[in-house]
Amino acid sequence: MKNFYYHIPTEVFFGKGQIENLAPKIGDYSKKVLLVYGGGSIKRTGLYEKVIEKLVSHGIAVFELGGVEPNPRIDTVRRGVKLCKSHEIGAVLSVGGGSTTDCAKLVAAGALYDGDPWELVLDNGKIKEALPIFTVVTIAATGSEMDRLAVISNMDTNEKLAVFSPYFHPKVSILDPEYTYTVPKIQTAAGTADIMSHVIERYFNPYEGAYLQNRIGDGLLKTCIHFGPIACEEPNNYDARANLLWTSTLAIDGVTWRGNEVGSSAHPMEHELSAYYDITHGIGLAILIPHWMRYILSEQTKPRFVEYAVNVWGVDSALPDDEIAKAGIERTHAFFESLGIPMRLSDLDIDETHFDEMAEKAEKRTKFSYVPLSKEDVKSIFKAAL
Ligand code: NZQ
Ligand code: ZN
Repeated sequence: MKNFYYHIPTEVFFGKGQIENLAPKIGDYSKKVLLVYGGGSIKRTGLYEKVIEKLVSHGIAVFELGGVEPNPRIDTVRRGVKLCKSHEIGAVLSVGGGSTTDCAKLVAAGALYDGDPWELVLDNGKIKEALPIFTVVTIAATGSEMDRLAVISNMDTNEKLAVFSPYFHPKVSILDPEYTYTVPKIQTAAGTADIMSHVIERYFNPYEGAYLQNRIGDGLLKTCIHFGPIACEEPNNYDARANLLWTSTLAIDGVTWRGNEVGSSAHPMEHELSAYYDITHGIGLAILIPHWMRYILSEQTKPRFVEYAVNVWGVDSALPDDEIAKAGIERTHAFFESLGIPMRLSDLDIDETHFDEMAEKAEKRTKFSYVPLSKEDVKSIFKAAL
């Protein structure tokens, strides 16, 4: 196992009614908060009114940044930064999914930065501080509510970039599974694929001594396999929503990959698809993951595929290794498909037009993954997924 540093400073309040803790916690930091939310789901579900009521009755003035896009854009971040600066706002609250939280993170950093916030995305070394960040999660997917990552898009330049900062860990996150009941089936499926991808991409690593991390990974993946279909079919099933929600938070916080870290692989490829075609993150991942797996399966990687197939999918360990490894990949593909996810890029109206430039950009990160992927490798995977 490699040496590592692990520090998660986020306070998590998990379960029904935990919203009661939000306003007092924000009040400890500021009497002015920027409420960041997406395209309107929180207004339809009534969560918006509830949050405002809690904040106002606690003497906190609320300013609003609504309309954050899935694949949040730098222009929206700029609007939020302007609000924070002009009203001297002291805290940022995201109520929504990963897009909303990622936007809130950049707003929080941009509010304390003199230049344009896109400069922070291009160079995280420029992030020296951020306003305190709070989240109320409404969808199980990214884990942004506890991690130090934000992903922001610039549609003018077809860039979707991940930016890391220790200042991005939220101070407090409220995880009430009931708030995820209204997530549509396809977004529930996409979220499940995203969670699984956060585990799978790191499961395939060369470090034999890090046994524990993959056993935690087995548990997280099996939880998704068990509860993903249930949440899709029974949206108000508390246990399904609760298990998925906590799995999403744990899947990316480092518990499965500190000590055996490799660069991610499908994520950099998917971010290019989103940057050019504005697709749903988890759907792009579900399409790419099985093709990436088929592409990297070799004599050298086969033992890890066998471990994955037997532990995660229960494939018969008495079969020949080649069969076991392939069965694990095909089970992964079939599972995503069974959730109702379209499994070809052409289903999303994506063709080869931008493959060359997308692969060139993805390569900057995929060359650090378990099996390093060159531009040509990425193009081959894109083509296989068409
Ligand atoms: O915008 P609203 O109206 O709120 O609707 C959203 C959106 O349309 C809807 N939704 C969310 N909660 C709902 C709901 N609809 C009904 N009821 C609810 N309770 O779901 C749609 C998707 O929301 P979004 O926030 O975009 O989803 P997600 O959480 O999957 O976030 C995706 C973004 O996060 C980035 C992705 O690249 C993408 O930009 N990622 C962020 C990461 C991180 N910060 O750690 C890691 C990930 O790997 C990922 O890259
Ligand atoms: Zn993801």
